Amino acid sequence: MILEILFGIIIWLTFIYFKSSLFGGKNNDYKVPNGPSFIVWFINYLYNYYYPSSSSSTSTSISSSSSYSSSFSEQSSERTILKWFRDYNQDSYSSSFFGRAMIFTKNAEICKSVLTAPVGDYEKPPDSSGVLIRLARNSILMTEGKQWQKQRDIIACAFSNTKVRSMESTMQSFTLETIHTLKQKEGKEGQKMTIDIHQLMTTLTFDIIGILSIGQKFSDHGTTSTNFHFILDEMIRPIRRLSSYIPLPSDKALNLSIKQLELIIQNEIDKSNNNNNNNNQDTLLNYLLNHPSNLNNQEIMSNIMTFLLAGHETSANLLTFTLYLLSVHQEIQNDLFNSINNNNNNNDNDLLEWVILETLRLFPPAPMIGRTVMNDGTVLPGDWKLRKDSLILISVYALHRNEKVYPSPNQFNPYRWKTLNQSTLNSNFIPFSSGSRIYY
Ligand code: HEM
Repeated sequence: MILEILFGIIIWLTFIYFKSSLFGGKNNDYKVPNGPSFIVWFINYLYNYYYPSSSSSTSTSISSSSSYSSSFSEQSSERTILKWFRDYNQDSYSSSFFGRAMIFTKNAEICKSVLTAPVGDYEKPPDSSGVLIRLARNSILMTEGKQWQKQRDIIACAFSNTKVRSMESTMQSFTLETIHTLKQKEGKEGQKMTIDIHQLMTTLTFDIIGILSIGQKFSDHGTTSTNFHFILDEMIRPIRRLSSYIPLPSDKALNLSIKQLELIIQNEIDKSNNNNNNNNQDTLLNYLLNHPSNLNNQEIMSNIMTFLLAGHETSANLLTFTLYLLSVHQEIQNDLFNSINNNNNNNDNDLLEWVILETLRLFPPAPMIGRTVMNDGTVLPGDWKLRKDSLILISVYALHRNEKVYPSPNQFNPYRWKTLNQSTLNSNFIPFSSGSRIYY
């Protein structure tokens, strides 16, 4: 691992050297907020990726009235993304790589103007890990322009209210199964037990999305989830940023894992096709196969990969954080328990909704949303003037902790949602993004 880091740093240093000799010089027509040099930013990122718990803790602004541990997850954000907002005392900062500006922002006006701009002004950033593009090149997640719009229209119907309602029974039965397994364990062991709640929630959401997408329960085939999680882990490894320049030792294992997943999906596509699309199983795959717009095989495969990818980790993280926050706020947990019981288990429960909104605010499962600037001279609120190809990285995590909108922002207080209304929130709450790519 140390060798990987050293190797990475040497390559970056070489790039930086060539950058300054080949691309040096500033163009005064462009103006970006101050920020650290790329090399300083990148070393900080590497250090905190590989040594998150051993890094010395900075003073966090976690409110003393909040009883959840500040060492839990805020500290790594405090040392990375939030550190630079604090150091430069601004709600946007930038770093420049090869003369290409990366603007990090938690400014609601900038977020709104970028996310709600006409399609074509900004695009999704290139996949720096090289993993997503191999998994889902032709999907709604990775395409732009007309191809994206076509897929968006098709997929929006697959997630209409009625369709989602029809998925409820699957979600309920898998959740009840998980509760049953837990109760059985409790019975066997009699007393206290330790549960890895994230692992449990990941298995739950992966099984649900597996059944809804292709009719397969992944926990029945251990290797499928192992492969999938290996792919997800690879996606966030810093060394992957070099994969388009040099082959990496883990490439072979990665390709094999992707191939095996593709094979499973292809088998299901073949089965449905051999059935002349008469397969009446109500899966997302059958929905796409039967859609009159004739998506090609690659588009179908890529979109199923996207559902598996985008659908399970996000939901598992939300559930994990919700259960964690409830476990350290017993009084809120009791209130929620009572309100659900008094409501005869009716899903229409304000407190339940507030608990979920508050968890999405504190720990958004998609903590960063990126966009590439498509036009030279793009002007952002604050009078920042950007060149084409600059990268805008919206920190949803930091935006959700604006104390002007959320007093005591680090405190878990679901009751704040009683008075927060849509107009106060405006662009200050974007766990599912905003504008044309919003996920709902
Ligand atoms: C707590 C759960 C979830 C959260 C917080 C979440 C968050 C997000 C966000 C922030 C984006 C937009 C990224 C951008 O603007 O570039 C997005 C896009 C997307 N999500 Fe989710 N998501 C969740 C669950 C799901 C589920 C369950 C599915 C499907 C099974 C899904 C499928 C997608 C797809 C297909 C897109 C791409 C939309 C497009 O590019 O037009 N997500 N999600």
